[in-house]
Amino acid sequence: MDDSNEQATGLRSRLAQYGDEAFSAYLRRTFVNSMGLARENLDKPVIGIVNTYSELNHCHLGMKALVEAVKRGVWVGGGLPLEFPVISLGEQFLNPSAMMFRNLMAMDVEAMLMAQPLDGVVLLGGCDKTIPALLMGAASADLPCIVVAAGPMLASSYEGERVGACTDCRRFWAAYRQGEIDETAIRSIEERLAPTHGTCGVMGTASTMACLTEALGMMLPGAAAIPAVYSERIRSAEESGRHILAAVKAGRRPSQVMTYAAFKNALRVLLAIGGSTNAVIHLVAIAGRLGIRLELDLLDQLGKETPVLVSVKPSGEFFMEDFYRAGGVPVVMKELEATLDATVSNVCGESLESQLQAIAFPEWQKVIFRFDAPFQAEGSLVVLRGNLAPRGALLKRSAASAHLLKKRGEALVFDSLEDLSQRVDSSDLEVSPDHFLVLKNAGPLGAPGMPEAGYLPIPKKLSGVKDMVRISDARMSGTAFGTVILHVSPESAKGGVLGLVETGDWIELDVDARRLELDVAPSELEARRRRGPGAREDRPVRGYERLFLDHVQQADLGCDFDMLRHPSLMDDDLAIEQT
Ligand code: FES
Repeated sequence: MDDSNEQATGLRSRLAQYGDEAFSAYLRRTFVNSMGLARENLDKPVIGIVNTYSELNHCHLGMKALVEAVKRGVWVGGGLPLEFPVISLGEQFLNPSAMMFRNLMAMDVEAMLMAQPLDGVVLLGGCDKTIPALLMGAASADLPCIVVAAGPMLASSYEGERVGACTDCRRFWAAYRQGEIDETAIRSIEERLAPTHGTCGVMGTASTMACLTEALGMMLPGAAAIPAVYSERIRSAEESGRHILAAVKAGRRPSQVMTYAAFKNALRVLLAIGGSTNAVIHLVAIAGRLGIRLELDLLDQLGKETPVLVSVKPSGEFFMEDFYRAGGVPVVMKELEATLDATVSNVCGESLESQLQAIAFPEWQKVIFRFDAPFQAEGSLVVLRGNLAPRGALLKRSAASAHLLKKRGEALVFDSLEDLSQRVDSSDLEVSPDHFLVLKNAGPLGAPGMPEAGYLPIPKKLSGVKDMVRISDARMSGTAFGTVILHVSPESAKGGVLGLVETGDWIELDVDARRLELDVAPSELEARRRRGPGAREDRPVRGYERLFLDHVQQADLGCDFDMLRHPSLMDDDLAIEQT
């Protein structure tokens, strides 16, 4: 750590302030010595390794081996690796939902990247909200960085059937609720659904976000789908450690990699892989950190031109390990190449055109389809609008039932998550398979935290019914399936029309026409609005929940905090939020 170098990089940069810079540098040197690092290492570029290992995050239990591999790569590349923790979000371990804390994690990442003496960063994440939070924070900090994902878990088997988390979790739970399997069977199934560490082994949100990170250019090509327990994943982590040094040397920052063209490419990949609806919220939020406004209409337009090419659950039949063996994201992008902007470059500085040159379509496999003979001709995600969702709502068409896509249905309304859980299985619930189940107050503000409650359970009374139209301002797990309309904006708790729907109202759904209309006269809606929603429990709110409620934006803006968006978007955001 030679002070003769005046350029403040590595351990010389971002000194703690005492009003005496020389003293700050002296103190830093003093305590760096206590770390036991050899003198020749102290002038190397400092590469932060953001470790999201946590024993409260089952998906990340393999992270320690990945961190060690990244460190080897950084040493080989000529850097000084320094690992540090940030908040970790394990989907099944957080109340009320991991989404409530995504922005908190993103703030943690951004603040630590900007405050510490780092020249570049390797970001390790995996479970649903972690990669979005890492990318949001890294985009705002705009330090050279590369992402390493935990990787998907392997599939398992139950009574000879190949199963995996978590599309099959939901299918078996629905069968248990309807009395098709008993208590002993469901206990046995839950021991088999998640056989290894790693993220859910289907195209849920975690796998989708890993694939989109690769598509955005923020991960090594081909790395997203490598199973968590494969040695290739460890080798890929080591390689990422080496590559970050080149990115630092070239000064290649996230804002240069994650351009509008890169996001547009990522949206096409999202549609082609039949990815999670949650990814739309996350991509909008990440782009918003860079001053890029991703409009829902762009997604819908691309959906009309982009078929589903990947047969992985919940849209298809295979698992992420099969997708990896079939070639993964590079093969999908090769098939999409004519529709992509191939001039974009990844974190390694390599253009997409050059990355795709050597990729050949593997004819022997059945997981990835050709663009000209797709798995599903229609786009996987559609954006619906109408008086019920003036700012948009989302439907995963590839996981919906074809016979429900154009339908007029009578609303059966649940006012909240509590109301849903109390009444949905009651024997006197007046419900038929033709009803539209409507859930209010489950959005970013209403729940709060926009939980994955949009996959409303089919009432027990309707034994044998596999799907119904469900509408809410909530989200849905990327592993779920059904005719589920999500992210209705504005949400009911923000004065959206969803909050005015009453049981017995008629709703018109026409997916081809992109329409979602509540068939109630405007005068009646106005009268209902004047009557108000009725008294809600008024409880004191403090701490992080207070911050969340005061600043979270609606789903169409990515549910980020207004003060964390790029300054260039803030005025327009305000105008949109006031509509
Ligand atoms: Fe972590 Fe599914 S629970 S990815």
